[in-house]
Amino acid sequence: MRLTLIQPDDWHLHLRDGSVLETTVPDTAQSFARAIVMPNLKPPVASVEAAKAYRDRILSAVPEGLHFEPLMTLYLTPDLSPQTIKAASETDFIHGVKLYPKGATTNSDSGVKSLDGMMPTLEAMAQYGLPLLVHGEVTEREIDIFDREAVFIETILAPLMQRIPTLRVVLEHITTKDSVDFVKAHPEMGATITAHHLIYDRNDMLAGGIRPHLYCLPILKRSLHRDALVEAATSGLPQFFLGTDSAPHAVGDKESDCGCAGCYTAPHALELYAEVFEAAGRLDRLEGFASLFGPAFYRLPVNSGTITLEKRPSVVPMSRPFGDTEVRLLRGGETLTWSIA
Ligand code: NCD
Ligand code: ZN
Repeated sequence: MRLTLIQPDDWHLHLRDGSVLETTVPDTAQSFARAIVMPNLKPPVASVEAAKAYRDRILSAVPEGLHFEPLMTLYLTPDLSPQTIKAASETDFIHGVKLYPKGATTNSDSGVKSLDGMMPTLEAMAQYGLPLLVHGEVTEREIDIFDREAVFIETILAPLMQRIPTLRVVLEHITTKDSVDFVKAHPEMGATITAHHLIYDRNDMLAGGIRPHLYCLPILKRSLHRDALVEAATSGLPQFFLGTDSAPHAVGDKESDCGCAGCYTAPHALELYAEVFEAAGRLDRLEGFASLFGPAFYRLPVNSGTITLEKRPSVVPMSRPFGDTEVRLLRGGETLTWSIA
């Protein structure tokens, strides 16, 4: 069996920087024509110039013969000014601003503690139509890690959207039924869903042994949430679209006393999504989720090329080179049912 799709895009991706771009950029570019590139480098990508320079480094790592367009984002630091928002909106390569609550995840130290002082910047984003891409988790120590997304929606996101109703918002890598319900209740907003949150629940990560390569943020939840995500992704609702949150870390940084959050899925993400959609009996809806709804939200044209998947087993490599070390792949060593033709 074969399945030809309009070439998809990845609406949430971490490529990192430096020599590892030699791995991460080709791994994404073999399946995806474009990707929204996260700005959580050290230091963060927080100016138009930094985004342009990072974009150039990414483009230098695109293999000959492949076409890949990095869609850049800025990091919402406390200093990000309305002037920078205006300047970003006048470029053709910056497509969003990323909110990391300070301390929420990898390289979020430069994030904002509270949105209160950020209103002029957020209002400028609404004015110039630049979307806010949200890592939706509160960071208070007393809030249980499994509740942090739901509490964020209630205490931060809902009030923000009431305060600036014209702000365009993408709730990134949603992991709960609470998020699915909130997004459905706000038809103007978008949400990305990762492959790993469609495949796994927290038992996969924690029962019968701890699996550090399934540890990501927001953390995997109980299975009823996974079921709600599968329902949303395969619903055909254009608010839900593909964002891998592929987030590579060196193997030693994951298998550690204090392991980093993030799953590396870029090389075979599309095949993983195909498995999920097939299992749900909704393969016919994969193209909307992967190739049509993201461009519609971001007001970009749909890609002109196509990609063909075929029902042919392939074994996922255990790892890929990562600078002078390696990065483990999600499902490394296991067999996938779909392959790129
Ligand atoms: C991401 C990373 O490593 O940059 N990690 C993750 O678990 N998803 C950051 C993020 O998107 O939260
Ligand atoms: Zn991410």
